[in-house]
Amino acid sequence: MPLALLGGPPTRTRPFAPWPSVNTATRKALVAAHDSGMWWQNGGSAAEELEAWLETEFGRRAIAVSSGTTALELALVALGVGRGDEVLVPACTFVSSAAAVSACGAVPIPVDIDPATFTLDTGVAEAAVTSRTRAIIPVHLAGHPADLAATTALARRHHLAVIEDAAQTVAASWAGTRVGTATDATVLSFQAAKLLPGGDGGALLLRDEQAARRAELLANCGRPRGSSTYDHELLGTNARISVFAAALVLAHTRTYEHMWRAREGQWHALAKALVGLGNGGLLAEPHPEATRHDHYAVLVRLPASLTERGVHASTLAAALTAEGIPARTLFPPWQTAPAYRDDPQVNVVPTPRAAEAAATTVALSHQLLLDPYFPTQTASALTKIITAGGDLISWQQI
Ligand SMILES: Cc1ncc(COP(=O)(O)O)c(C=O)c1O
Repeated sequence: MPLALLGGPPTRTRPFAPWPSVNTATRKALVAAHDSGMWWQNGGSAAEELEAWLETEFGRRAIAVSSGTTALELALVALGVGRGDEVLVPACTFVSSAAAVSACGAVPIPVDIDPATFTLDTGVAEAAVTSRTRAIIPVHLAGHPADLAATTALARRHHLAVIEDAAQTVAASWAGTRVGTATDATVLSFQAAKLLPGGDGGALLLRDEQAARRAELLANCGRPRGSSTYDHELLGTNARISVFAAALVLAHTRTYEHMWRAREGQWHALAKALVGLGNGGLLAEPHPEATRHDHYAVLVRLPASLTERGVHASTLAAALTAEGIPARTLFPPWQTAPAYRDDPQVNVVPTPRAAEAAATTVALSHQLLLDPYFPTQTASALTKIITAGGDLISWQQI
């Protein structure tokens, strides 16, 4: 059967259900926030309700803010990171994990990844520690938990703050420790594509009460919540979450666990359907120490038979998308983006494993896992694409 990329019939013709899921519960939540008349994060609104939910879930002080990016910036500043400091950031992540460091005047230092989990390699991170290193940002990429045990041990040895970037997970866990419960700070994102979508929005979870108070002031133009006088204690910004976003996030918290169970089941069904294809190793498996994986994205690697012949991940993404299974390539190392590539402070070490991951891996978004036909159709599409390897090479050369 010819590839859909070359004009053949696609494996799947029906589009997947869109994300975020729009339903009666999300509409009701939005209308309730509207009708409450409390349109501001200033006591009693959906924003405070969301913070209370987060505090119960994670056992930490929670501050809901306008985005995951802002939450990262606030976490860094609240923990005292600033000009002249260095912060270790995995090379394979969305640019915000690094850009937030730059925004507070510090220098993000790229760290190569463990190719098995796509998360920061703590051995490489330790070798990158200098007298200026103040913090490390493990990113739980695609819902894979980073090695929190090794990261916290490394941080203790070198007196570093640990800020988890949990934009791509809500409840992944490493060796029984849930993300967001054992480090100095954790950042969540409620951007529309995320597991708890609110349109835009984010939150930070802080261990230390003083740091939490600083972050809360910083996010509210430097003055205490509820104050309507001009008592600005710190130089802050307006990073408050919209109460309408908070209401939508809260509505999604009620279906999160049910959806996680569906994603988990479907991921295993896909893994089973792919046994033997491409000599195994196509799917990025949860690490044996990962006690819960959030499946924010299904990561699929090109088999060696295709990478050896020069096939790039962008070709696999195009071929899968043409077959009706939307796919995109993984983040290229952030330090190679135009915003960073000429910066000698940042481009200090190569990160070949992150570069290889970007060239050989595609990501399928979490909502596809909610479709009953996803495992069988994705396995069929991958079988078709991999067995037509030569055609992919010709297409790539056009
Ligand atoms: C790993 C990671 N960190 C940070 C962010 C930034 O979050 P936001 O879009 O809410 O600013 C994202 C969002 O895409 C992300 O994927």
